Amino acid sequence: MPTIADGCYVADSARLVGDLHLGNDSSVWHMVAARGDVNHIRIGQRTNVQDGTILHVTRRSESNPGGFPLIIGDDVTIGHKCMLHGCTLGNRILVGMGAIIMDGVVVEDDVFIGAGTLVPPNKILESGYLYVGNPMQKKRPLKDSERAFLTQSAINYVELKNDYLEEGQR
Ligand SMILES: CC(C)(COP(=O)(O)OP(=O)(O)OC[C@H]1O[C@@H](n2cnc3c(N)ncnc32)[C@H](O)[C@@H]1OP(=O)(O)O)[C@@H](O)C(=O)NCCC(=O)NCCS
Repeated sequence: MPTIADGCYVADSARLVGDLHLGNDSSVWHMVAARGDVNHIRIGQRTNVQDGTILHVTRRSESNPGGFPLIIGDDVTIGHKCMLHGCTLGNRILVGMGAIIMDGVVVEDDVFIGAGTLVPPNKILESGYLYVGNPMQKKRPLKDSERAFLTQSAINYVELKNDYLEEGQR
């Protein structure tokens, strides 16, 4: 069964299943489906998973003994309607709306992934860069304002989920 740490907000319409842990002060918004059934999902602290996003994993097999769990770090913003499958995300990352991130991908800390980006399997996204496109391309180094926004976006969502919790919004 999922375990949910203190201070989290999980919308009523979100569905969390299986071996999943949600860290302190994180939020999972409307219509999210997160299925830790054939491997585990770990979500860090102050991370937000926005509406309509799907999170899933890949099972262990002879050719891939660990399978592909889904690991998401702290202060990560996952925009609306993203698909994250069996990948590993560090800290302070923004995944733009509608992005697709596939098995075995590793996203290092402080990365901005543009809306609609497709990240093919097993790619490594280097810290401090903007990636956009289908398939993704390393576009340019992040501006200082964008680096700051990675943290600010997480703060904004902690405040928003606190409002929802205080007002009893589901
Ligand atoms: C990636 C993003 C930050 C780009 O911002 P920007 O300031 O316009 O970036 P730039 O001006 O440096 O654009 C760089 C180039 O990438 C292109 N580009 C911008 N966003 C793009 C995207 N999502 N996919 C493909 N190309 C994109 C621009 O057209 C530009 O192309 P050009 O060099 O040929 O003119 C922004 O478009 C984006 O996708 N934000 C995500 C927002 C989001 O989903 N938030 C989460 C929900 S709250």
